[in-house]
Amino acid sequence: MQLRDCFIAALGVVVFICIQQGISWVTIFDSVNEYILLFTFLTIAVILVYVKMSERPKLTYETYLRLDKVLDSQYLESEAAGNRVDEEHLFIIVHQAFEIWFKQILEDLGGVITTFQIPDFDDRKHLSTITKKLGRIALILKLVVQHFEILETMPPAVFLNFRKYLKSGSGFESLQFRLIENRFGLQQLAREAVKGQVYKDKLNSTQKMKAVESEEEPSLFTVVKNWLKNVFTTCTERDSQNYLSSINTAVSKWAKDENTDENQKVDKDAFEQILTKETYKGLYDEDEKRHSLSFEAFHGALLISLYQDEPEFQMAYMTLKLIMDVDCLISKWRHTHVLMVHRMLGRKMGTGGSSGYDYLKSTNQDTYRVFIELFNLSAFLIPDEYKAERKPYTIPKCGKISSPN
Ligand code: HEM
Repeated sequence: MQLRDCFIAALGVVVFICIQQGISWVTIFDSVNEYILLFTFLTIAVILVYVKMSERPKLTYETYLRLDKVLDSQYLESEAAGNRVDEEHLFIIVHQAFEIWFKQILEDLGGVITTFQIPDFDDRKHLSTITKKLGRIALILKLVVQHFEILETMPPAVFLNFRKYLKSGSGFESLQFRLIENRFGLQQLAREAVKGQVYKDKLNSTQKMKAVESEEEPSLFTVVKNWLKNVFTTCTERDSQNYLSSINTAVSKWAKDENTDENQKVDKDAFEQILTKETYKGLYDEDEKRHSLSFEAFHGALLISLYQDEPEFQMAYMTLKLIMDVDCLISKWRHTHVLMVHRMLGRKMGTGGSSGYDYLKSTNQDTYRVFIELFNLSAFLIPDEYKAERKPYTIPKCGKISSPN
């Protein structure tokens, strides 16, 4: 109960007593008017005090940032057990710093996904917001990966002095990390289980609800896939050059070039496979473990990459580049974390019950790279000298490409 609520309750009691007592006071005061005067006076005084109490405390640096809470949230379990290990303070601070940045990443990732879902999505207008947010996510990830270096200033032997106080607590239970993975588009089947338990088994019921929600919400992968499909379908609908046959022609010219070194010979079979819907199988062979780009989405991405310097694709290319940056940086996060864990624990089990180093290594593989197809796509780029010229186009809206003539 807030102070204000207590005050209202007390006021109720005072008014009640006043009314009760009023019957006899009327006899004490000379007239009813004097009684009313006193009662009015008391009421005004009470209102003034109430208004004063309702005022928000003065906004200062400390109150605005809730520093009282933030700076009072480093609770050393070793100290509570009467055996303070100073480095536990650093251990907590570094984890909290990660979580704060995870929160900002989730905020920006949510913003990117929502923007992609705008019904009247307009490349020229919305890709600018998207690239700003993706760029920031990439910068934050670069920054937090460096936090591990700070933690590594703590010698493994010192970590051992307070590790027992962590009991079964582990980063494995970080809800925000799971939300980032899910919102980015990590497929649940891609996840490595720990002793038959999936990540949700380690969360409490409220956290579990949030995790399930995030699994069901559209991920960055889903919205990007839809966007790429739109780019492709609208381009090929109106493109008289026929994009697919122009690739075929370019590849044939390239394959015939006798100056090409043996090791760099064009893989015509691979190109043939991506050129029709029937033969296209995606660029990743463990489809069941992950989402996969559709034929149209793949060609949307290829089209953007091939013609990245043309005005209508510059922002789109920047978007794809930043998505790949973020994908890389999440892998870097996993890689740096696993190396640090190896240094701290050797091959000991984790407090969360996993095999530790081996488990974490298994999370740093291709199945965990949500946008791996964008990387594989580089095998289908074509040198400028063979590539068909594109007529200059303008794109009034994504999905509505019009030729100037
Ligand atoms: C001395 C430092 C650290 C050690 C020894 C350590 C150890 C481990 C181990 C062994 C695991 C596997 C699960 C388990 O069995 O517990 C794990 C998972 C995890 N840790 Fe750390 N960790 C450290 C620091 C951090 C930091 C600073 C973060 C930042 C948030 C973090 C976040 C995570 C996350 C998110 C997972 C789950 C990874 C996954 O399942 O893919 N850890 N950690």
